[in-house]
Amino acid sequence: MQSENSLTDADFIALRDLIHKKTGIFYTDRNRYLLEARAREFLRQNGPEVSSCIGSLLNPATGPAEWNRLISKITITETSFFRDPLQIAVLAKNVIPEIVKRREQSGSRLLRLWSAGCSSGEEAYTLAILLAEHLKDQLTGWNITIFATDINEEALEACRRAVYKTYALRNTAQELKGRYFRTTSDEKLIIRDELKRLVHPERANLTDAAACKKYAGVDLILLRNVLIYFTATTKSAVLCTCYNNLRDHGYLFLGQSETVSGKDHPYKRIAFANTFAYQKAPER
Ligand SMILES: C[S@@+](CC[C@H](N)C(=O)[O-])C[C@H]1O[C@@H](n2cnc3c(N)ncnc32)[C@H](O)[C@@H]1O
Repeated sequence: MQSENSLTDADFIALRDLIHKKTGIFYTDRNRYLLEARAREFLRQNGPEVSSCIGSLLNPATGPAEWNRLISKITITETSFFRDPLQIAVLAKNVIPEIVKRREQSGSRLLRLWSAGCSSGEEAYTLAILLAEHLKDQLTGWNITIFATDINEEALEACRRAVYKTYALRNTAQELKGRYFRTTSDEKLIIRDELKRLVHPERANLTDAAACKKYAGVDLILLRNVLIYFTATTKSAVLCTCYNNLRDHGYLFLGQSETVSGKDHPYKRIAFANTFAYQKAPER
């Protein structure tokens, strides 16, 4: 039985393929109902014909705004501060101290980090907190840029505001909340300015390798819970973009259910306590 959300096979395929081409996100036949449910409001506002919705997405005059609206509906933006305790522990104890030490030994106090697919920014600000905890009163002596990129403009707007409900900080230690956040009059938490200015929220499509060259020379990439929505080909291309953008010895962290597979990726898998990451080994 067709539900009121159902698309015809032809409309589903047309919309699915357009979204895949534009974003890398691929809705399989099994996930067809998800696309139908998520795109429902967008489609309803555009009128009953999917072809007219597709027309407005392809129209240069209306396309950019229409894509923003559609992308905000069809992307999964689930995130939180200190989301993965095992990776957080490794970042705090091993990886951040190592990259800071390596930069110091090279005589440079420049750090470039990248939260790729940052959603509303919790991951990028978590990195800022970890750096502040490690560098303590030397923080201001460092030139730090944390790129926070996503294709979802609504999520990026939240990242720019940096005001969060307490639920987003459910895994954040009380003392860190006290140190790095102010409480707003409506009981929300706002990240303090000295950390906020380290984070640079920008729109960037990870499937656009040329546009992502802007993030070259980074010491660390968090590409967590993004690849799961891509096909194998897109995933491979995005992993390649990340590899090219990493500095030698730089680290890549994926989500717990994501891995680098295939012989075409020269990442070195590094095992840490109860988790792992990938490293760009220097070329010989
Ligand atoms: C589930 S969230 C992950 C947030 C965060 N990395 C974490 O693990 O907590 C996935 C994010 O990837 C973004 N995304 C999906 N496709 C993308 C693309 N092609 N380029 C950039 N961001 C993308 C989505 O908009 C969404 O905000």
